[in-house]
Amino acid sequence: MSGLGLQNQRILSGMRPTGRLHLGHYHGVLKNWVKLQHERECFFFVADWHVLTTHYDTPEIIENSVWDMVIDWLAAGINPGSATLFIQSKVPEHAELNLLLSMMTPLSWLERAPSYKEQQEKLKDKDLSNFGFLGYPLLQTADILIYRAGAVPVGADQVPHVEMSREIARRFNHVYGRESGFEEKAEAAVKKLGKKNARLYTNLRRDFVQEGNEESREKAKALVEGHASITIGDKERLIGYLEGGGKIILPEPQALLTPVSKMPGLDGQKMSKSYGNTIGMREAPEDVETKIKRMQTDPARVRLTDPGNPDNCPVWQLHEVYSSDDVKSWVREGCTTAGIGCLDCKKPVIDCVLKETGEFRERAKEFEENPETVRAIIAEGTEKAREIAQETMEEVRQVMGLSYR
Ligand code: TRP
Ligand code: SF4
Repeated sequence: MSGLGLQNQRILSGMRPTGRLHLGHYHGVLKNWVKLQHERECFFFVADWHVLTTHYDTPEIIENSVWDMVIDWLAAGINPGSATLFIQSKVPEHAELNLLLSMMTPLSWLERAPSYKEQQEKLKDKDLSNFGFLGYPLLQTADILIYRAGAVPVGADQVPHVEMSREIARRFNHVYGRESGFEEKAEAAVKKLGKKNARLYTNLRRDFVQEGNEESREKAKALVEGHASITIGDKERLIGYLEGGGKIILPEPQALLTPVSKMPGLDGQKMSKSYGNTIGMREAPEDVETKIKRMQTDPARVRLTDPGNPDNCPVWQLHEVYSSDDVKSWVREGCTTAGIGCLDCKKPVIDCVLKETGEFRERAKEFEENPETVRAIIAEGTEKAREIAQETMEEVRQVMGLSYR
């Protein structure tokens, strides 16, 4: 893929703290994060500044929402030993990069972001004609680029934002990646690869630049990235040289589209706080049970003897998420022949949801009882994140003419 820079293995994603998470968040986002943390280097953060772009008038809810959300992450199985967890506002370098990138971000890119008009429509009762809200995707861009993340797991609605971060990175590299004497420095870096690798790199580069052979570019990149002894600066030069531009300071990230979850809410619509159809990740068992027992079923089943159609029933959608093929055929058979009652049908779903939320509650317990543990996890993650962010900022300041004394 083009545009991937160094450390393209790193994964970064963020979530706005809007309160306790529900099963829609788990099946739609967290389950995927849990999986990714075992495969790649992962950074997950709480986007508390982003929540202020729309909720600037309720600062009192932030603190609790943040800690509730982090506990839900841990409850889901995010492991602070595998993934780095931190809070955006505790790494103020994001704001500095946001500011510096704003210098070269065309207003029209922000105005055209699909989320901009949509959200403004959706939250009509709020005045969102603010600079901060307009700049939402730029702040997100800074979040991503500051870690030189290679992949950003997001839902479809966020893909345009990741696209924007690619465009801004490209523009940045184009403007600032052309250090004086770039070609000479790049050629000097080629020599440092060692005789054999230098020849290989040169041939692969020629093959790509002259023949457009993508495979050669990939090979050359792998050669550079895998090289053990040259500096990061030289690696960036060699990759920039390869791709025809200058030095790649801020690599372009890729959106990693999260598989769409089928998790329905209690009414069959998408599970969402605004629809009031959620089951909380750590909800009390008796409430989970009551909520599912009260779910509407196929309206055709007025009496037990009326056959129904699972396709018209939100409970069926829960079976699709939780039940085995055996249980599902038992449901279809029993429902369409009026052989089972709706409460019978709900029983296996209730059991599965209780098992799942039970595991979350079990994992969360330790953190609910010891808030200092959660603070310590975040403090450690923030420190690690901040170190990387500071390294990036040094380079950014330097190319933007700001590291004079
Ligand atoms: N905008 C994202 C959302 O609403 C949250 C977010 C902020 C984010 N910064 C990010 C996601 C950086 C991925 C990468 O869900
Ligand atoms: Fe829905 Fe199950 Fe009742 Fe059929 S039997 S209407 S699938 S709850």
